Amino acid sequence: MTDFEFPPSFIFGVATAAYQIEGAVGEDGRTPSHWDTFSHQRGNTYQGDTGDVACDHYHRYASDVGLMADLGVDAYRFSISWPRIIPEANGQINQRGLDFYRRLLDELEQHHIQPAVTLYHWDLPQWLADRGGWINRDVAKYFTDYAVAVFRALGDRVPTWITHNEPWCSAFLGYGEGEHAPGHRDWREAIIASHHLLLSHGWAVEAFRALAQSGQIGITLNLTVVDAATDVEEDAQAARRSDGYSNRWFLDPIFRAHYPQDMVDLFSRYVSWEELVQPPDLTTIAVPIDFLGVNYYTRSVVYDDPDDSWLRVGHRRAPSGQMTEMGWEVHPDSLYRLLRRLQQDYTTLPLYITENGAAFADELTDDDQVHDGQRVEFLERHFEAAHRFVAEGGNLKGYYVWSLMDNFEWAFGYSKRFGLIYVDFATQRRIWKESARWYQNFIKKRRNTSSSN
Ligand code: FCB
Repeated sequence: MTDFEFPPSFIFGVATAAYQIEGAVGEDGRTPSHWDTFSHQRGNTYQGDTGDVACDHYHRYASDVGLMADLGVDAYRFSISWPRIIPEANGQINQRGLDFYRRLLDELEQHHIQPAVTLYHWDLPQWLADRGGWINRDVAKYFTDYAVAVFRALGDRVPTWITHNEPWCSAFLGYGEGEHAPGHRDWREAIIASHHLLLSHGWAVEAFRALAQSGQIGITLNLTVVDAATDVEEDAQAARRSDGYSNRWFLDPIFRAHYPQDMVDLFSRYVSWEELVQPPDLTTIAVPIDFLGVNYYTRSVVYDDPDDSWLRVGHRRAPSGQMTEMGWEVHPDSLYRLLRRLQQDYTTLPLYITENGAAFADELTDDDQVHDGQRVEFLERHFEAAHRFVAEGGNLKGYYVWSLMDNFEWAFGYSKRFGLIYVDFATQRRIWKESARWYQNFIKKRRNTSSSN
């Protein structure tokens, strides 16, 4: 069992996202998002899985909050489904959509669980996808309108806002690699989308400040540590490119008000910067935020690969030999290295780990047990790495485990289980995994220690 202690004010939570858990895709005025469209098109997801029902959380939210209360978490990070709030092109706000989140917030409040709300966890309304999605600069404006509607309606109840979840995935997996909605394979589009996503973040933060809202606002990036596979110069350069693509493309504009020049040079084959980036954009994107959310799952070990696309980066698969069901290397030390680097190179603002967790091949035994010792070990080692950073004075304020429960893992459908709680999707039964009990104990022990101090 762990013997490291986090400060009493440190927050431990769980995280989810709307399309991955809610289901009820046609209820109370919600219209489709581009993820509904994408998941319903053949070949895009594992076995054609969709989020139509997912964890049926829309109907089961109260008992799901009950699970969180039993876990003892301090905080819950969830996302709001944009097409529930603004379902149609006429821009009208759908009260029934807002009411769902009001009920959820009520339930959380009753159990003293702090909400952290993500505005965009990838479910763009289809009516906006029909207008070009994130390729269209106007969509960044529409995002701001949506953000303002939500700030006005729920602002007094939400202490923590996150504009975007992992814009790298929205832009590069969605418009470049085609693995996520809308499934395009066009690097020109991907780069344009990344800029508009960042711009919409800046505009939403400006709008938040203009409303003089209480609470804090930030953004969540998926970040990694990139190691070169060998000492040769070509591999070191590949590592630099990979870092530019995964990390600096987002961190530099947010914290330094410019895009990294090496990447600008690389991307110039696809876009004209003068057309894309208008004069005030970079100042907007670098608008001060209150914290940075970090989603960390694995590191990258890369080499120069002339056969790869324009980036010329090849990936070594889990050199240390330990990996999760996603094929991602288990590398807790890189979480520590990542946090150190962020603080040294980019910001002394509070950091939150807004997602960390792992998929393993969980099996339900006949007597309703899930022995996921690997997940317990994974979390324990990553908590330890985070603790090392905090113990050295690092400004890390909280940790959200991905995820509360098994859910729709995007293109992998229901084939990858990340939950602390097992979901039997046929019956919607929730079953505590060993890791959930471990987390519950970890939190309980912490409470006891801090109250006896
Ligand atoms: C992240 C996503 C989250 C979940 C985890 C496993 O990239 O933000 O929704 O799918 O990966």
